[in-house]
Amino acid sequence: MYDFDSIVNRNTPDDIKYEKVEGIDDLIPMWVADMDFRSPPEVTDALIRTASEGIYGYSEADKTYDDAVIGWMRRRHDWEVTSDQILKLPGVVLAISYAIRVLTENNDHVMIFEPVYGPFRRCVKGSGRLLTAVQLKNNGGHYEIDFDEMESRIIEDDVKLLVWCSPHNPGGRVWTEDELRTVADICKRHGVFIVSDEIHADLTLYGHKHIPMAKIAGDGCVVLTAPTKTFNIAGIQAANIISSNRDILRRIDREAVTTGAYGLGKMGISATRAAYTYGEPWLNELISYLESNIDLLREELKDTGLKMMVPEGTYLVWIDCSSYGELSRKLLTQAHVRVSEGTFFGADCGNFIRLNIACPRSVLKEALRRIKEVL
Ligand SMILES: Cc1ncc(COP(=O)(O)O)c(C=O)c1O
Repeated sequence: MYDFDSIVNRNTPDDIKYEKVEGIDDLIPMWVADMDFRSPPEVTDALIRTASEGIYGYSEADKTYDDAVIGWMRRRHDWEVTSDQILKLPGVVLAISYAIRVLTENNDHVMIFEPVYGPFRRCVKGSGRLLTAVQLKNNGGHYEIDFDEMESRIIEDDVKLLVWCSPHNPGGRVWTEDELRTVADICKRHGVFIVSDEIHADLTLYGHKHIPMAKIAGDGCVVLTAPTKTFNIAGIQAANIISSNRDILRRIDREAVTTGAYGLGKMGISATRAAYTYGEPWLNELISYLESNIDLLREELKDTGLKMMVPEGTYLVWIDCSSYGELSRKLLTQAHVRVSEGTFFGADCGNFIRLNIACPRSVLKEALRRIKEVL
């Protein structure tokens, strides 16, 4: 039994989620996507062991690291990966940017589905590429893809690349095999390469099964994975780009090295290896705990007029607040609960909020009590 109930003091000045908001001293932060739970003890032990060496020279992940990644992908995702298909980088967003730069030219169109994690847009635009944004269809609290629109927009804009989010943040969809196949088929038909951000892949709920895009699109994609969301080590910054397309991997690696990104730091290697080797029992319990938190949220919001999408994956809950209008500011100033604003995910999502429920149940209960008071 792991302890997800204890409240851990995170009030360090360099902690983004808990940054001070002037005039509020009882803030409950439910915005940034990291958790209020301690990482698995084996991860902490590995980091302490590495830290206690006292020398922090340049590092390079070795075979034991790759074996841990390979074992994890096999056990958790039924996905066979080899060492030469893994490229290490200190972050998924960085990997998205490199992939865009390598796979497209200035003024090429890159497709995303909105709403989506805000930095997708930033990476496309910041790289001098043009955005083709297709809106997901909200079918009774369940995001779905309009495949006809997807295909016609690809043709219209001569789209070169799709940045795909699977599982989906903020909607919590774990895409089905049929959906993935259709996306991959359309992309293949029109020569669109897929960058599949699968940072939330391990956090599937209620029996939903994540399927890596690589198992469907093969050489036509790179998959971006990380242990950071899964094991609450986002501050350590580690990611793996996985693809059977070695040519693309080599080009991304060259782009990374040219701009000074050399794989992972010592702490990233240590933590990832320990997490993927020993973290499974912890993750299984975490998932049950998250499901119970979501069940509680569902029950509490039932008669409030707030319409939540029940996530199939992630610990993030996307909530339609249309009956109240823009709510995030009110929740911050009146309930002292900080949520993510909908506009971070899509320009027309001002009436949505995203709630991070990865916190001890007692904290969630208190947040919900305050939120309901404001409503
Ligand atoms: C879909 C998605 N991709 C990437 C990231 C961030 O990844 P990294 O910290 O490795 O850049 C997040 C963080 O919330 C995310 O939700």
